Amino acid sequence: MREAGKNIMEYDTVALDEESGEIVIIDQTRLPGRTELIRLKTAQEIWDAIYLLKVRGAPAIGVTAALGLYILCKDLETDDFAEFLEKLRKEKDYLDSSRPTAVNLSWALKRMEAVAVKAGAEGKSVSEVKELLHREALRIREEDIEVCRRIGEYGLELVKPGDGILTHCNAGKLATVKYGTATAPIYLGQEKGYHFRVYADETRPLLQGARLTAYELASSGVDVTLICDNMSASVMSGGLIDAVFVGCDRVAANGDTANKIGTSVVAAVAKLYGVPVYICAPTSTIDLNTPTGADIVIEQRAPEEVTEMWYRERMAPEGVKVYNPAFDVTDHELIAGIVTEYGVARAPYTESLANIIRIGGSSN
Ligand code: MRU
Repeated sequence: MREAGKNIMEYDTVALDEESGEIVIIDQTRLPGRTELIRLKTAQEIWDAIYLLKVRGAPAIGVTAALGLYILCKDLETDDFAEFLEKLRKEKDYLDSSRPTAVNLSWALKRMEAVAVKAGAEGKSVSEVKELLHREALRIREEDIEVCRRIGEYGLELVKPGDGILTHCNAGKLATVKYGTATAPIYLGQEKGYHFRVYADETRPLLQGARLTAYELASSGVDVTLICDNMSASVMSGGLIDAVFVGCDRVAANGDTANKIGTSVVAAVAKLYGVPVYICAPTSTIDLNTPTGADIVIEQRAPEEVTEMWYRERMAPEGVKVYNPAFDVTDHELIAGIVTEYGVARAPYTESLANIIRIGGSSN
């Protein structure tokens, strides 16, 4: 439970307890009502926490998977590297199967695997490989802080003090280690006294905007107003919004972007009203192996999330057919810029994204 007087922003979204060898996360399904820290140790617990969105948001999922793979491998009882690698790959594939859309998950796991493969090729012992995996998982977590901060700096150049910013879902601190991606320019602006007016979409069906974004921004003293998902045209036509900042789960090579369901609707409405849409994406979210948005696997989730979750009583008729994709794809033509830790990519994205990946030396 929350310690008395402790602000949600003071908790780690995901951390490693070195002593117990467990991952500690905030159970995000209980927010904002309850701040509960839970501990993950087994592969099943880690898989469930990701699938059930106890930890969620592309970067946070990547960090959890990396820490998870380390804790699952550190107790493997073998001195034989080939056997160790085989078991590591089994755990990796299992964790990777928890959610399909956020590429950060497989990106982080591949990074961990590559460390083991390289160390094995160099003739390192299994215990040395375990220590390298430990360091790599912590590095992935630490890097996220700096990456988000840089996204915030580039994003801040796109807006001015007093601007109205609309965001969808939660691409905030709770989706990362610190700062968030879409919220990073907001938090950095807050430090500089920019006084943004932020509008947070509630984000049906799982309400990440209402439960998480509105909560963390308000807890940080940001001027935030909660709106329903069907109100974006109202606030944009009323001139309240100067820019849209959203996060993303995968950016295809042509700039098409998968993010929380409803993002593409916001982007289409923004186009109509001349409001620029900026996608905030660490390079770990850019997937040059996925040519277009049509190639992105979109997670389908349980019908109950639409028909009964968050309602005191089931609100839809029993047996009704439900369509519940967790993400949609925003066409690159609706996107004014993709804000990364290496700068803002602009159309034509096929060139600018490839260039940014080259600058960053990312493995995607
Ligand atoms: O289903 P979720 O809550 O994991 O979806 C999260 C999003 O869509 C975020 O916008 C995205 O992962 C970016 S988080 C910095």
